[in-house]
Amino acid sequence: MENPYDLFDIRGRVALVTGASSGIGQSLACAFAKAGAKVLLLARRQAQLDATLQAIGAEGGSAAVLACDLLDSGCFADIAQRAAGPFGPPDILLNAAGINPRMPALQTPPEVWERTLRLNLSVPFMLAQCLVPAMRERHWGRIINIASLQSVRAFPNSVAYGASKGGVVQLTRAMAEAWSADGVLCNAIAPGYIPTELTASITAQPAVVAELATRTMVGRNGRAEDLHGVALLLASRAGEFITGQTLYVDGGFTSK
Ligand SMILES: NC(=O)c1ccc[n+]([C@@H]2O[C@H](COP(=O)([O-])OP(=O)(O)OC[C@H]3O[C@@H](n4cnc5c(N)ncnc54)[C@H](OP(=O)(O)O)[C@@H]3O)[C@@H](O)[C@H]2O)c1
Repeated sequence: MENPYDLFDIRGRVALVTGASSGIGQSLACAFAKAGAKVLLLARRQAQLDATLQAIGAEGGSAAVLACDLLDSGCFADIAQRAAGPFGPPDILLNAAGINPRMPALQTPPEVWERTLRLNLSVPFMLAQCLVPAMRERHWGRIINIASLQSVRAFPNSVAYGASKGGVVQLTRAMAEAWSADGVLCNAIAPGYIPTELTASITAQPAVVAELATRTMVGRNGRAEDLHGVALLLASRAGEFITGQTLYVDGGFTSK
């Protein structure tokens, strides 16, 4: 009988991780590298990407930097070629780049709405459009999106963010329907609150942080490492029959 741990083996897979310069994307990029994948680190800030690259290298992992502004529509023309450069075409696309420009609904200008919807919702689809053809050729691919508590719960001052993350859940189903039969599975992870740059304004309010923890079933908020196991499941053969799903990794927040 096969060792069940082999099901989670991603050694030699090529993973493109957006948002790899900080927070959840950075943590998952390091986890994939530790699990033996060759990781392409995509974000805008070169210094932070270089630091992530160094950290991965210091642990014996393989990675390369792909500095890129995903809000620059010109970047999609050659992204598949650039991504394939260091290690060959990506097998796994993890869409973790995201923004949440918190502001009251009536004061949300059109450009903020559009930027948020574009980066959080449109870009994961556009990147998939660029990378899926090579995945289909090999009949193997994994797309992992990052949803949110705000995919199913409304929070103050987050109209654009909430709309984008609600969209991510349905985008995930729609991409799964389009490509699963070709071996390209698409799922999303919906984390609970995790302290990162994105949530710095929440983290600065201890009473709000404590209140969020009480709304979970386990009684604590999240850590980026809480997502490592589910990301590995969805990126590997272990997740072979899972597609179109959003897995809530939130300590029970959305079930309570
Ligand atoms: N933290 C939470 O509690 C939480 C909960 C649920 C879901 N999420 C989601 O998790 C994902 C990661 O968030 P995080 O909390 O880890 O936030 P974060 O630390 O602020 O990371 C966001 C990442 O997105 C990248 N990014 C932003 N604009 C970009 C652009 N124009 N082009 C390329 N990359 C860009 C940033 O890199 P550069 O600035 O270097 O470009 C950074 O690496 C987001 O989708 C977020 O919505 C977070």
